[in-house]
Amino acid sequence: MENEEAQAQVDIWKYVLGFTEMAVVQCAIELGIADVLESQDGRPMTLAELSSTLSCSPSILYRIMRFLIRRKIFKEISIDQESTGYVQSPLSRLLMRKGDNSMAAFVLLESSPVMLAPWHGLSARALANGASAFTAAHGEDVWRYAAENPAHSKLIDDAMACHARVAMSAIIENYVDVFKGIGSLVDVGGGDGTSLGILVNKCPWIRGINFDLPHVVSTAQNWDGVEHIGGDMFKKIPKADAAFLMWVLHDWGDDECINILKKCKEAIPRDTGKVIIAEAVINEKEENRYKDVSLALDMVMMAHTDKGKERTWKEWANVLTAAGFYRYTVKHIQAVQSIIEAYP
Ligand SMILES: C[S@@+](CC[C@H](N)C(=O)[O-])C[C@H]1O[C@@H](n2cnc3c(N)ncnc32)[C@H](O)[C@@H]1O
Repeated sequence: MENEEAQAQVDIWKYVLGFTEMAVVQCAIELGIADVLESQDGRPMTLAELSSTLSCSPSILYRIMRFLIRRKIFKEISIDQESTGYVQSPLSRLLMRKGDNSMAAFVLLESSPVMLAPWHGLSARALANGASAFTAAHGEDVWRYAAENPAHSKLIDDAMACHARVAMSAIIENYVDVFKGIGSLVDVGGGDGTSLGILVNKCPWIRGINFDLPHVVSTAQNWDGVEHIGGDMFKKIPKADAAFLMWVLHDWGDDECINILKKCKEAIPRDTGKVIIAEAVINEKEENRYKDVSLALDMVMMAHTDKGKERTWKEWANVLTAAGFYRYTVKHIQAVQSIIEAYP
């Protein structure tokens, strides 16, 4: 057999068994494996110690750990000549339930039955050209579904909060200048206010207004320097010096994005205001570290929203211009999102 064909016979199993990685990582989070290993301060834990701490079957845990070590999610090191123990890796630290960089809540959202069901309707969506896979699976769009199902709303809010912690830290570290000179900032679709809470803590000259749907802000925690306001961004956005939109526009089609951006324009001063957008910018021609992530996120938008998508720079420029923003810049930072600044 030719080399390429022999490799294909192996590679096909990635797709046959692709779901196992997500499912076993979900299992590791639910068991709290990373949290227990972290509490050991780098001391390796034997299988007997780990299974006893987690109250798990040793034989099943052994097989789970063997799989996750093979995937480089955890590490196994020698303790002495006869025994080995499990330790954390940089990747497993991201699976701790708590912690500034934790992505655990995001894994739990994407692996939840509610979010997995629409994937079965992707081909139907392609054939029907536009019908939403989420709506086909659940009878209403993701935001209405969340409003009526508090447990799912909490899964979304927690996932967005963990993403916000990672993304805001990257934005502040790489491009804090984008917030210089801004006295008040409205975070449109800001979820539970985590983004603004972090931002105001680092940039205390900013007064934060966290704006989201009423059912989201009603359960949001308090943050110093942040006021929560509930409402609908398609109707009216609270006034501020600048508006911030992170991972909101990618949930919507072009027409909805133009409407949201026009509402942002009404909320900020005409001469000094700006809209700051944190979103992926797909570069179809060049390689970069985040390309696979942004193309996969585009598939997530296809499965979970009616018309949402990840956009190329040309597509962003079209939407901004149609909303009446004729001056805009983009800065690529070390994050999935780039920072687009648009001036009215
Ligand atoms: C993908 S989440 C992004 C959350 C946050 N900006 C982040 O990056 O972590 C989109 C947010 O938009 C909010 N949203 C959806 N429809 C909205 C509307 N009509 N008005 C205000 N917020 C809305 C959702 O409740 C959700 O919190």
